[in-house]
Amino acid sequence: MSSNAARATLAALYQARYGADAAVPETTSPLIETLLNHRSVRAYLPDPVSDDALSAIIAAAQSASSSSNLQAWSVVAVRDPARKARMAAWAGGQAHIEQAPLFLIWLADLDRLEQVATKVGDTHAALDYLEMFEVAVIDAALAAQNAVAAAESLGLGTVYIGALRNQPEAVAAELKLPPKVVAMFGLCVGTPDPAQPTSIKPRPPQRVVLHHEEYSRSAQAPGLDAYDAAMRAFYEAQHMKVRGTWSNHSAKRVRDAAALMGRDQLVDALKRMGFELK
Ligand SMILES: Cc1cc2nc3c(=O)[nH]c(=O)nc-3n(C[C@H](O)[C@H](O)[C@H](O)COP(=O)(O)O)c2cc1C
Repeated sequence: MSSNAARATLAALYQARYGADAAVPETTSPLIETLLNHRSVRAYLPDPVSDDALSAIIAAAQSASSSSNLQAWSVVAVRDPARKARMAAWAGGQAHIEQAPLFLIWLADLDRLEQVATKVGDTHAALDYLEMFEVAVIDAALAAQNAVAAAESLGLGTVYIGALRNQPEAVAAELKLPPKVVAMFGLCVGTPDPAQPTSIKPRPPQRVVLHHEEYSRSAQAPGLDAYDAAMRAFYEAQHMKVRGTWSNHSAKRVRDAAALMGRDQLVDALKRMGFELK
């Protein structure tokens, strides 16, 4: 590609994220361009994801940093259609879970550390604290996002499935998870269906999320107004049935406990699953 064509491709990626007048940095890399090109995919071809590709994706996931190198995460690869169908039902009927040839379930896993401590004859009381649960959640999320970037670099599409937390105990029973292991989210993986292409979704201007030296709430307001306008245009262009602005949509998601669609019970479920969260 000529350098002019490469600049135009890069500019298109920035414009998709930040709008027509987006500033385009000189600094770039193939990885940054893969990341900028991200969009969630919810329609897949039936082509399987090979064991070889899965192995490369998991190597990328395992290459993520891990708090104190504790490796407090695991992942279950599900390909069985009947099992995917049960997962789809627990996630509120999300058909893309059944359609994706591969469904990865990312686990916060403190059982392995309990086993390790027991093996060397030590106690493991720290596992009962919220801090260790956070360590496991962060580890799982970092690994999963590396997997997403790797999959996308191979031309595969993905979408996270947080709705798997609607029924954490059903998922745990299905996957035979021991105590102190919980599914944080699923990830559909497959070849995107070219007949149902998806677009890059805008993000808020950088001034909304990037603070220099000190956090500023007031600096965010104009950027959020701009983001509401950008998302309104995106919803219309994509024929998405979203009422109101991004702010309206987001406010609805945090309105009350009912907005959590059952996940307001998560602490109780986690406690039953062996996480004391002290
Ligand atoms: C932890 C997590 C959970 C998610 N859960 C779901 C889900 O259950 N179903 C779904 O369709 N999308 C889900 N998503 C995808 C988000 O809706 C999507 O990432 C967001 O709208 C931004 O769009 P983009 O990924 O296309 O840029 C989830 C994303 C994350 C990070």
